[in-house]
Amino acid sequence: MERECRFGIEGMSVHVPRHCIDLGTLAAARGIDPAKYYEGLGGRRMAVVSPDEDPVTMAAEAARRLVERHDVDRSEIGMVVVGSETGVDAAKPIASYVHGLIGLSPQCRTFDTQHACYGATAALQLAAGWCIQGNGSRRKAIVIATDIARYEVGSAGEPTQGAGAIAMLVSCEPRVVAFDRHDEAVFTQDVMDFWRPHYRSTAMVDGRHSLDCYLRALEHTWDAYLGSSGLRFEDFRHLLFHVPFPKMAHKAFHRLHELEAARRGVAMPPAEAMFDTLTRPSLWANVEVGNIYSGSLYLALAGLLEQGDAAIEGARLGLFSYGSGCCAEFYSVLVGPDATAWRGRIGVAEALAGRVEVDYPTYVEMRTRSEGMAGDGSFREPVHPGNGRVRFLGVRDHRRVYQAHISPGGDQLRSCTSRACAGAGSG
Ligand code: HMG
Repeated sequence: MERECRFGIEGMSVHVPRHCIDLGTLAAARGIDPAKYYEGLGGRRMAVVSPDEDPVTMAAEAARRLVERHDVDRSEIGMVVVGSETGVDAAKPIASYVHGLIGLSPQCRTFDTQHACYGATAALQLAAGWCIQGNGSRRKAIVIATDIARYEVGSAGEPTQGAGAIAMLVSCEPRVVAFDRHDEAVFTQDVMDFWRPHYRSTAMVDGRHSLDCYLRALEHTWDAYLGSSGLRFEDFRHLLFHVPFPKMAHKAFHRLHELEAARRGVAMPPAEAMFDTLTRPSLWANVEVGNIYSGSLYLALAGLLEQGDAAIEGARLGLFSYGSGCCAEFYSVLVGPDATAWRGRIGVAEALAGRVEVDYPTYVEMRTRSEGMAGDGSFREPVHPGNGRVRFLGVRDHRRVYQAHISPGGDQLRSCTSRACAGAGSG
């Protein structure tokens, strides 16, 4: 007999790179007033990747934490989907590396989804649909958003860079947030607001145009969602947005406030005070990490859930996902019960607490060395042990090589190429 399946996120974990740079340090190097970055863009720091970190290591670290912190039985995972626009190979998905690195069962689908920052939302919707199709058979999927946001040195986009990964366990036991079943509110338009040709490691962007595209997509999906769900502005305890830089969420909130004021035809409470209650509590981690593309919305969600007020259980949250190009979606979730049981496992503050701040020359050196790691022959034998982390060692014989400290049954170091991972991993 078919069982009604509530579906959504059962657990989530966050990983951010070990290094970061203060935006004031970057502003000083550019001869720009730091207030432009701190206030104009709303950021404080941005994550900086080391040469031994890449989208695979970040995804594997987030997934490892998810599995360990949420007591996930690896044999129950039947699908791993990675939403990313920082793919490391034109054919082999990041999901397949992650599958090998964290030691999941062979009876598992693995693939990536890509549409700029929308990729992880596409992955979540897909995984949720697959869970529902199981008709109560306890299907569980891991969805990971992992990206490195990289713009040209000295460009307007540079202070909005960042990197990180969010892993989410999707199932019919949505302890953290349950997805609402209302009709889809999606919007697609073929626009050139932001893109990255295959031959470039940095994104191209038409900055002002991208802001307009984002806000247009927001208006369309918001109207569609209210129309199909019958919900009203006041039904949302919090409104979360894709966060390319924190000030963008501020602009997005103000646009919804204007729309709502026009719809009601009467004065609304001041927008700034409403922003402070409805959206600002979700932004504290994004302020510290920068844009993580597909994961930015989910970092905001993780931050809110981890440090939101105690009465967040049962609250409805509105989520706006935007991917340049463009595809956008507005949907809502209901926060699950017993927040005290799961909020301590998300690990946002913990991930941020261990970071090391670098100076400007170190930032430039690290990004140059990271970009140099993509080519064959970049492989270096590890000099130091892995300290428990998954590390990218470089490319040898056209194969990416990772060093992992993760295995289901023990904790031995293993070196893992794409070939070795197909089996069990070798020493
Ligand atoms: P810019 O050249 O820094 O723009 O580029 P600006 O000169 O207009 O300054 C930005 C803000 O700083 C302005 O505030 C200034 O007034 C303020 P606003 O008018 O917008 O409210 N400002 C100051 N404030 C205080 N003190 C000062 C001062 N000086 C100026 N002294 C831009 C900004 C966002 C265009 C650039 O950073 C960029 O190109 N970023 C990348 C693109 C982007 O993030 N687009 C967002 C929408 S598209 C999206 O979200 C998708 C994306 O995530 C990719 C994906 O989907 O994969 C990017």
